[in-house]
Amino acid sequence: MIISQYMTKEHRGCDTKFAEAEQAAASGDWAKAEEAFLAFSNDTLKHFKKEEEELFPAFEAQTGSSEGPTQVMRYEHEQVKGLIGKLAGALESQDKDAYLSLCESMMILLQQHNMKEEQMLYAMCDRVLPPETKESTLEKMKKVEL
Ligand SMILES: [Fe+2]
Ligand SMILES: [Fe+2]
Repeated sequence: MIISQYMTKEHRGCDTKFAEAEQAAASGDWAKAEEAFLAFSNDTLKHFKKEEEELFPAFEAQTGSSEGPTQVMRYEHEQVKGLIGKLAGALESQDKDAYLSLCESMMILLQQHNMKEEQMLYAMCDRVLPPETKESTLEKMKKVEL
């Protein structure tokens, strides 16, 4: 379960930063909100890049399909990126109501996305990828930079 473990840990790390930013914004600490949001968005975008450039292609090559679950995940990444942009805008204008309401949408979207990956896609990767492919994909993901 090396893929599941590594990727799930990253989801949790992003969740923590996201919650930190939300709490800071709710209490009007915009400097802290900005710092935590930046960490959240950088970590999330880097995580997406690991999936899109390394994990998904490895899964697609193994299963011979790029039109299944990975296509849905890629589409949801675009939705998350759109919300990151909107959150950044609300943060910049220090619009607490807008920020917190966007947080709600983001939380629902990310929870559903992450759950699908953790319960289905990562589990499938751990099941179908040969051990050496899992090792090499993991090593390549660790080297991905934004
Ligand atoms: Fe993803
Ligand atoms: Fe993910």
